[in-house]
Amino acid sequence: DDGGKGGYAHFMLKEIHEQPRVLRENIGNWLTTEMSPKLRLLWNRLYQPPMILGCGSSYYAGLTARYFMEEMTSRPVRVELASELNHRPETPEAGRLVIGLTQSGETADTLNALNRLRQSGAGILAFANVVRSSVTRIADQTMLLRAGPEISVAATKTFTAQLVSLYAATLAAVGRDYNSNNGLEARLKELPALVQMSLDDTEEVIDAAQWLTGFSNVICIGRGAHYPIAMEAALKLKEVAYIHAEACSAGELKHGPLALLNSRTPVIAVFGSRDDTWETMLTAVREVKVRGAPVLALVPGDNASVRQLADRVISVPQADRRFQPAITAVTVQLLAYYTALALGCPIDRPRHLAKSVTVE
Ligand code: G6P
Repeated sequence: DDGGKGGYAHFMLKEIHEQPRVLRENIGNWLTTEMSPKLRLLWNRLYQPPMILGCGSSYYAGLTARYFMEEMTSRPVRVELASELNHRPETPEAGRLVIGLTQSGETADTLNALNRLRQSGAGILAFANVVRSSVTRIADQTMLLRAGPEISVAATKTFTAQLVSLYAATLAAVGRDYNSNNGLEARLKELPALVQMSLDDTEEVIDAAQWLTGFSNVICIGRGAHYPIAMEAALKLKEVAYIHAEACSAGELKHGPLALLNSRTPVIAVFGSRDDTWETMLTAVREVKVRGAPVLALVPGDNASVRQLADRVISVPQADRRFQPAITAVTVQLLAYYTALALGCPIDRPRHLAKSVTVE
């Protein structure tokens, strides 16, 4: 008996491995739910930009999804840290949809922010993983993430479940017949198989993790929708591997973080697809190399220029460019896990952290 770990060394690894199933269920759920037509109606009636809020990894899931939501709907989407929103002046919120992201459904800062927004007139849609959690009593509607219990303190499967749910909810909001939706549902449905591919081939990840254990300070960079994935990478490294990691947009390197670089401070470069962010990421990596800092690159598919520049490369299964962040997120989780494993950290229960933070 391993206490429910299903043969895995840690709950974190078990939960990472559950993602193909979790993603399949969430995508299927959204594409069939009776919420879809309701959401579409609601979305078209909004007269304030929709807002997403959460804390920790949930906040990063919102930040990541924003790029897709704005591209699909041609409307701005606000993303807020719940803990900070509580210290901003109250504003009239009628005509606003607020999407509250909280795995546990119990995070005090998130619940307080949602309560305040509801009192100011916003409509609340919550994405939660825990059935009958407190958020369900505040939200007008709660969509369950169907991820199953997440025991490890660091969020993994619920992060990607939130992300794909936001992707699918966006497709629901724009409507199936919407032009730019063409083929996107099918591409979204490919994600579980792509996640499985990254779980089946972890050689480069384990090798890079071993290498990372030699450093105590790391800078993670990304651009576009992969900037919040770089933030999630930094958070995961701090949480489970106790490595001091900081994320910055590749575009912001030259406004400060470059000063920190040397041979003891590697950069994890989280590349997106070959879109408008590609060249700027390559330029950033060149700037880093000139300063003598080692580079670990995460790249969808593979790329000769990146292999030439970087000290270590992890090739990530390639998805539709819009959904790539969900796949790269899984590699980020594996990297943090194997780094923590090599360092002998108490992975499922990091010091000083709690699974759900019920105090402000
Ligand atoms: C804690 C957990 C994080 C999680 C955050 C938000 O800090 O350690 O993994 O992302 O809470 O939790 P929630 O349940 O609101 O998604």
